[in-house]
Amino acid sequence: MNIESLAKPSVLTQPVYEPGKPIEYVARELGLDVAGIIKLASNENPFGPSPMAVAAANRTLVQGELYPDGGCFELRRRLASHLGLEAEQFVIGNGSNELIELLGHVFLGPGDEVVMGNPAFVVYKLVTLLFGAKAVEVPLRNWHHDLPAMGAAITPRTKLICVCSPNNPTGTATPPDELVSFLRALPDHVLAVVDEAYVEYQARPADLRPLIKEGRKVICLRTFSKIYGLAGLRVGYGYAGQALCSLLQRVRQPFNVNAIGQAAAVAALGDTGFVHRCVQENRRGLEQLERGFRSMQLEVVPSEANFLLVRVGNGAAVFGALQRTGVIVRPVGSYGLPEWVRITVGSSEQNERILAEMGRFLSRRGHLG
Ligand SMILES: Cc1ncc(COP(=O)(O)O)c(C=O)c1O
Repeated sequence: MNIESLAKPSVLTQPVYEPGKPIEYVARELGLDVAGIIKLASNENPFGPSPMAVAAANRTLVQGELYPDGGCFELRRRLASHLGLEAEQFVIGNGSNELIELLGHVFLGPGDEVVMGNPAFVVYKLVTLLFGAKAVEVPLRNWHHDLPAMGAAITPRTKLICVCSPNNPTGTATPPDELVSFLRALPDHVLAVVDEAYVEYQARPADLRPLIKEGRKVICLRTFSKIYGLAGLRVGYGYAGQALCSLLQRVRQPFNVNAIGQAAAVAALGDTGFVHRCVQENRRGLEQLERGFRSMQLEVVPSEANFLLVRVGNGAAVFGALQRTGVIVRPVGSYGLPEWVRITVGSSEQNERILAEMGRFLSRRGHLG
């Protein structure tokens, strides 16, 4: 009897998440120098973490023999004052990915349905399938979540409805007033999961706290992986009503968030100057990339996040060609967009480099006919 025959059937059919390739892996695979490689594939912050976060992480590292605070007390307290909510309205995860999984633990089983956009962040679908529930994918309309169609897809079996704004992989955001009216009109048996992983980059984001204070069934998910530059330390959080947070707290591991990540996140929240500079740099970088790609006659989707979808013809071929020059981007064929690549906004030098490499690729392709 092989080991697979002992596994739950849902595990055997579970699709596998494909992460952006790490720099060291690409260097080994292609015989390139690590120092010459830039990774613009996973929407990380090209400016790293705040130096204050790094210092806090280092201070905590020397107490590595101690278990972390399982309740993430200090981080929840700081988040509460940051967002004007109560500490009990926060739940912290090992990245916001874990929070999506915790939602699955609390709410999903066979027969349940989860409504989500397509394409949208793939982990909603992975978690839905993992718990034996059904993913109801509603195509985007003009690159945006089609809220009326998502509303129409709700059935008595719907447990969760996921709205990713700004959306990954498109970078598009749902207009705040439309989002708020949509959430207010949801039936009482549905919990709305609003993924705000890129919200800090948005000029005018929706404020969903009034809905939470009114007692609506809404949870917002955020992360320290993007603007705060702490993807490697795995810290994300959700904010919602206290009752919902208590349910999520019940199903997490006792020490799900490590001490170094907690300390770094607390310090990162305090460095508002760093966050502000990163937002400004990202805005400039987005303009630089959009201008550059448009001048090459490449279509781009206007983005409110820290990445850009670019129509390159054959996404897999462009990914491969750029990778051979040491520039890692994200092909998005698995999101149903084989003609596109998703490119993270880098520093201005990194942006220049990818524009130059793309220009060279296109002229070579033109030359070859
Ligand atoms: C929309 C969205 N949500 C959540 C995540 C997960 O972030 P993390 O688990 O690093 O907090 C990502 C990461 O790429 C994302 O793009």
